[in-house]
Amino acid sequence: MNLTSNLHDASNLHDASSLHDEFSKGTLQTKPRKSRFATKKAAIICFVVTLILALAIGLGVGLTLRRRSSKQNEGKTIPAFGSMTTSRLTARPSLWKPKPGTTWQIVLQNPLKLARNAQSVTPDVDVYDIDLFDNSVETIQTLHSLGKKVMCYFSAGSYEPYRLDSKSFLPADLGAIMNGWPDEKWLDLNSANVRRIMAARIDLACQKGCDGLDPDNLDGYQNINGLKLTEGNTISYVKFLAAQAAKCNLSIGLKNAADLVDSLVSTVHYSVNEQCVTYKECASFSPIINAGKPVFHIEYPNKSGLTVAQNAAARICSNSGASAGSKGFSTVMKNLNLNGWVQYCDGSTAKTPVNIS
Ligand SMILES: *[C@@H]1O[C@H](CO)[C@@H](O)[C@H](O)[C@H]1NC(C)=O
Ligand SMILES: *[C@@H]1O[C@H](CO)[C@@H](O)[C@H](O)[C@H]1NC(C)=O
Repeated sequence: MNLTSNLHDASNLHDASSLHDEFSKGTLQTKPRKSRFATKKAAIICFVVTLILALAIGLGVGLTLRRRSSKQNEGKTIPAFGSMTTSRLTARPSLWKPKPGTTWQIVLQNPLKLARNAQSVTPDVDVYDIDLFDNSVETIQTLHSLGKKVMCYFSAGSYEPYRLDSKSFLPADLGAIMNGWPDEKWLDLNSANVRRIMAARIDLACQKGCDGLDPDNLDGYQNINGLKLTEGNTISYVKFLAAQAAKCNLSIGLKNAADLVDSLVSTVHYSVNEQCVTYKECASFSPIINAGKPVFHIEYPNKSGLTVAQNAAARICSNSGASAGSKGFSTVMKNLNLNGWVQYCDGSTAKTPVNIS
């Protein structure tokens, strides 16, 4: 997307809702993704959760990584999150290749609350897209025992200060602050150090038993990023991530980045799209469907509420007008913090239980 169309999109968004106020501070638009931990309290909770995960995995990750130079580690496997004792977790008999029409739910605000012996999960959909760091191996195993596939979300293109491995990034890896997300910075997709860290995150996804990846923030080139990122950089980066993922039969999605669909449709196994109706760009993602791969599509018609106005839902689900080109998409309507609430195009709604503390 060029500068002109991006500005155009920003004005669409402005027309569509008051999202503009929340996410745009006067420059180019960054698409909303998941809500961030804005308050101090939430940051502390987050810290505790990550600390517990770190202990569970059994290593002082930050310390281990800080002592390594990126040079030292080039080309080596980095035990960034500890070598999990159970190699059975990494065994994947084959690559997960979902088909168009695959149903899903996405919950990123909190980890799922799912008992080890749960007999069901709400909603009863094919795929759960959940945070790689925040959810436990047990949750992933339970989802599998219920016949679900698990897509693991992580930010591949932005620095988040509160992750287990945040200390591993170098100052030179970080670009401009992301518009609307003041604690995040764009990452240099060409940095060997960034790629090393992301390879370690993909290893973690392998070890935790994820089926696929949802790497976010691949579209720095559309935004003021401070690193002169180009479309070509993202194409190269997604191919790198896909190659890492393929080593353990993890599939991978293209997040947003409508302009790169043609270049990457054969590399990725699905698309995860936000707001193609709002941006009137759903048709850009139809080549994914035509290639026999699903488009996991999110709209945010009610940024904080738990209901969607009937006319808004009809607009999103019609496959005409603003949603032209969305035939066959796996559409969910969510609120912006991507909590447990979801509405589908058949009018059904559900609330997935989450662990708040
Ligand atoms: C990946 O899947 C193939 C089958 O498609 C299988 O032969 C191979 O062993 C798997 N690799 C891993 C690392 O699980
Ligand atoms: C958003 O949801 C709330 C309730 O959760 C409702 O009162 C409000 O009317 C909804 N707004 C829109 C635009 O649908």
